[in-house]
Amino acid sequence: MSEALANLLNETRQFPPPAALAANANVKADAYAEAAADRLGFWERQARRLTWTKEWDQVLDWSNPPFAKWFVGGQLNVAYNCLDRHVEAGLGDRVAIHWEGEPGDTRTITYAELHRLTCQTANALTDLGVVAGDRVAIYLPMVPEAAVAMLACARIGATHSVVFGGFSADALTNRIQDASAKVVITADGGFRRGKPSALKPTVDEALANCPSVEHVLVVRRTGEEVAWSEKDRWWHETVETASTAHTAQPFDAEHPLFILYTSGTTARPKGILHTTGGYLTQTAYTTHAVFDLKPETDVYWCTADIGWVTGHSYIVYGPLANGATQVMYEGTPDTPHKGRFWEIVDRYGVTILYTAPTLIRTMMKWGEGIPAQHDLSSLRLLGSVGEPINPEAWIWYRQHVGRGERPIVDTWWQTETGAMMISPLPGVTEAKPGSAMTPLPGISADVVDDQGQSVPNGGGGYLVLREPWPSMLRTIWGDDNRFIETYWSRFEGMYFAGDGAKRDDDGHIWLLGRVDDVMLVSGHNISTTEVESALVSHPSVAEAAVVGATDPTTGQAIVAFAIPRGTVDTSGEAGEQLIADLRNHVARTLGPIAKPRQIMLVAELPKTRSGKIMRRLLRDVAEHRSLGDVTTLQDSSVMELISSGMGGGK
Ligand code: WT7
Repeated sequence: MSEALANLLNETRQFPPPAALAANANVKADAYAEAAADRLGFWERQARRLTWTKEWDQVLDWSNPPFAKWFVGGQLNVAYNCLDRHVEAGLGDRVAIHWEGEPGDTRTITYAELHRLTCQTANALTDLGVVAGDRVAIYLPMVPEAAVAMLACARIGATHSVVFGGFSADALTNRIQDASAKVVITADGGFRRGKPSALKPTVDEALANCPSVEHVLVVRRTGEEVAWSEKDRWWHETVETASTAHTAQPFDAEHPLFILYTSGTTARPKGILHTTGGYLTQTAYTTHAVFDLKPETDVYWCTADIGWVTGHSYIVYGPLANGATQVMYEGTPDTPHKGRFWEIVDRYGVTILYTAPTLIRTMMKWGEGIPAQHDLSSLRLLGSVGEPINPEAWIWYRQHVGRGERPIVDTWWQTETGAMMISPLPGVTEAKPGSAMTPLPGISADVVDDQGQSVPNGGGGYLVLREPWPSMLRTIWGDDNRFIETYWSRFEGMYFAGDGAKRDDDGHIWLLGRVDDVMLVSGHNISTTEVESALVSHPSVAEAAVVGATDPTTGQAIVAFAIPRGTVDTSGEAGEQLIADLRNHVARTLGPIAKPRQIMLVAELPKTRSGKIMRRLLRDVAEHRSLGDVTTLQDSSVMELISSGMGGGK
């Protein structure tokens, strides 16, 4: 990485915050200096956003690194902070969740109602024998019960492990077994792409190998017939008949709140453990600071699934701790039509939208005519998360969703970091398209070389975190050694995030993707992200994926897969011409060394269910190998299409 091509991205555009937003921003420029002067004091003040039943004795105990303890001795209840205190403050009638099912059914849930449902669920779980410290697996579609189940666990001190509803029985089995979950909360199914999609049969299959599970709580969503065993209980017969009275009991700041498994493509999944006080402090603060959330007036919408960390931190804990009103949507963006998201923005008057680059590029592919058919004037702030956002996708987002004037916050963080770490502040930062810009106040991120030395401006290297932060993972569930090896062994005394990064001439940070995704071409390190961004900057390309394939002369050669935009002609000679143009375009943008050896025009790219491109599979294609495991793909037919195209020559 230290050799990363200088100046690969020539992005010089910069967008200052709108004046009105800057003047009214929740967090102003002085936050950086305040946190720099006294980092622990800064986080201590952020912790006071929450209601604690017992104040901490020590802000941070870092006497046994890398095992951090934050707000040592403090006690609080997470569900109390997300619900009861708002109801007690007279806000019970405020809408917490505008929920919309894929078929178009809706529910409006106030804070008072969410509180009541959570109390009932807490009572029902207690009746099923769940006590503080037990693990509960949650395998649900995007229904309000998913948030309720998480909050109910938090309320009684049970540690939840949410498993994304798209995962297979094997994945579910591994996760239930690893955490020895006592109860599973699931549903008959959910709606996806216009059809019911069953979940309960997957749980039944998984349970054959999960002796720890004593009870299964089943939400009725689709009404489809399900097999029934004596462990099963209907949610509506158990939860909805339970008492609504429940007093939240305080837990230690370091009490385990949840485990969330990172979906490793090859290795065994890692159970990332998050705890109570520090996690809620940082998710609450970043929601307030980065989204500039005004709970009285904003309508917030995060399009992630609750099964990912984004859903944990920025659908459930961060927004609810702030008393936000939000939208929650069950289904896919193109059901029943490609304008579904924009229809939802218009219907609920969404003011803050948080989504992923993969979605923005999909929207680009569908064309700007689709958002143009809807009134998006309510939107005042846009967010992005999940992978580097290509500058052209950023500009498209601002132009066609943000009417050319709304600020974009590109937020870098990970399941492991628990909350946002590097991001613009919307009222302060002059954002650059494609850059996550600066570490948030109280966060010390750095870009270092192979030896762990900070690189100067203009240099490239590895992203690290130099100081512990409140919402950091505490360990890998049941495997402290793996925790140390994975994150703390590459560089002495620093957390290694696994991402490549560079610092531009102004000191701003650009994420370059996972370090495993860096190519070595004739002795030059070239990041897949930069070549992808160069391709996407061509007017005919909506989305691109780049891999390094073994090459006898150059070591690795760049092979690109590009999805043309909606109306582009790719047949016969026009296609050949486009490929030639694209190769030249990359060479002109990044330098001749980055010119792809080969470009394939494709209709789709293989993605994980969280929207990340599976480059491993594309490398198999590029190197003419038979395909590896495709079971974690969102759509496994994509690979057949791509490989058959590849067989047809260059
Ligand atoms: C990895 C973490 C954070 C919630 C969703 C993903 C990549 C994430 C950005 C961004 C560039 C990003 C990194 C990171 N990533 N956000 N704004 N810019 N890269 O959580 O599944 O744990 O993945 O996603 O590579 O390490 P995750």
